[in-house]
Amino acid sequence: MWVTVAIVVVLLCLIWALTGRPKGLPAGPTCFPIIGNIGLFRPSEATQAHRKFRKIYGDFYSLMIFNRPVIFISGFDNIRQLLVKHGDMFSERPRVYPSEVIAKRKGLAWASGAWWKEQRTFALTTLRKFGFGKRCLQSQVIEEVDCLMDEFEKYEGKPFNIHYQLKISVSNVICSLLFGKRFEYEDAKFHRLMKLLNTLLTVVNFSSPAFIFPSLSRFSIFNFTKAKPTIKALAEFVVERAEEHRETFDENNIRDYIDAYLLEQKQRTTEVNTTFTGGDKPTMEIKDRLPMVDAFLLEVQRLGNILPLNLPHTTKEDFWYQGYLFPKNAIMFFMIDSVLSDPAIFPEPLKFNPERFIDADGQFGGEQKDKMIPFSTGRRMCPGEPLAKMELYLFLTRLLQRFDVEPEDPKRLPSLEGTLGITNMPETFNVRLIKR
Ligand code: HEM
Repeated sequence: MWVTVAIVVVLLCLIWALTGRPKGLPAGPTCFPIIGNIGLFRPSEATQAHRKFRKIYGDFYSLMIFNRPVIFISGFDNIRQLLVKHGDMFSERPRVYPSEVIAKRKGLAWASGAWWKEQRTFALTTLRKFGFGKRCLQSQVIEEVDCLMDEFEKYEGKPFNIHYQLKISVSNVICSLLFGKRFEYEDAKFHRLMKLLNTLLTVVNFSSPAFIFPSLSRFSIFNFTKAKPTIKALAEFVVERAEEHRETFDENNIRDYIDAYLLEQKQRTTEVNTTFTGGDKPTMEIKDRLPMVDAFLLEVQRLGNILPLNLPHTTKEDFWYQGYLFPKNAIMFFMIDSVLSDPAIFPEPLKFNPERFIDADGQFGGEQKDKMIPFSTGRRMCPGEPLAKMELYLFLTRLLQRFDVEPEDPKRLPSLEGTLGITNMPETFNVRLIKR
């Protein structure tokens, strides 16, 4: 009997030692045996929960998901130091559900190592050729925004859920770049794809153990099984497009990203000069004269931050920083929200105040602007930044040229709370667009 008790005690101690928080790791909420910190908060509470943890534990804290440490880094200086100065150490992605199950370690966003480096260089060069960072990209965005405005007009000022059309429209910009084709709003196949994508982005959430241990995703209790049909449908959709491209491929007419990829495969050394020529519409040209629009959009990005936790990074080797151990292969979140909601940088952080980005001369600038890192920083910083910024600018300015925007009910403005999947998804709301 005593032997059995002794064995059970030793086993329990072993389990505790193996699944507890390793020595040196930043502090964090108390771990339970085996499960660690699983189930601390719901995805809809994630951002608020992390803000609380930062108040309690400071700029470095950790959670244990079973035996795997997840480390959270807050503060502009720490994030810059680690992602830029120690960029080599922190530029890999961890092996989590999206990298293992969705991307299968290929692609760009979830890949690591030599594969990632090659894809990233190819993406940056190709996108630059398609006008990234240049004004000529705007004609495509403008074409899409104009279609969207026509669509909005159909509602004649009646309230409607703006999400679907907005999503289609933004996705269409990417589709034009990737597949050389935009989709009509009524296109049933595209509609279905949007719905599936929405499911994927909501179901696959950072807070679930199945995110960190992909093999758990097969158990329906973790809800990730819902992601499977989406991944399959997305893969089929992309394969179909690639096949179409292969059949009509002409190396003298590179239409889009897929064509560029096919050409690179065929002839890796030849430089192809494919730029889209822009239309006559001068909107980007007057951007510098509209500092308040820039300030407004930056404030929107600050409060409507879509990746509050950033995408996860991992450590190549054990790494000591300010007395803390970041063990090899730990999952690390360089918390964008900790910067964008930091009262030391942005006084009254919950207040929507675009003026914070206007300097004494009435120009777009100032210290707070330099601390805005919604696209992260360092080697894995978002390569889509120029397009994202151009879209934000063109969608907004052209919307405001055509419509006054009003809430459905002025007493109940849309909520700024979101639900964190991979991205932070806003709650749906209706707006009224009144033609000017
Ligand atoms: C407002 C819009 C956007 C925001 C706030 C945003 C933000 C981010 C952030 C925070 C990351 C993670 C960086 C890191 O790991 O340190 C990221 C990665 C990435 N973004 Fe964006 N992004 C936006 C739009 C776009 C667009 C329009 C594209 C495509 C054209 C894009 C393509 C990517 C890719 C491919 C990665 C992965 C890069 C890598 O792993 O090397 N993003 N983005």
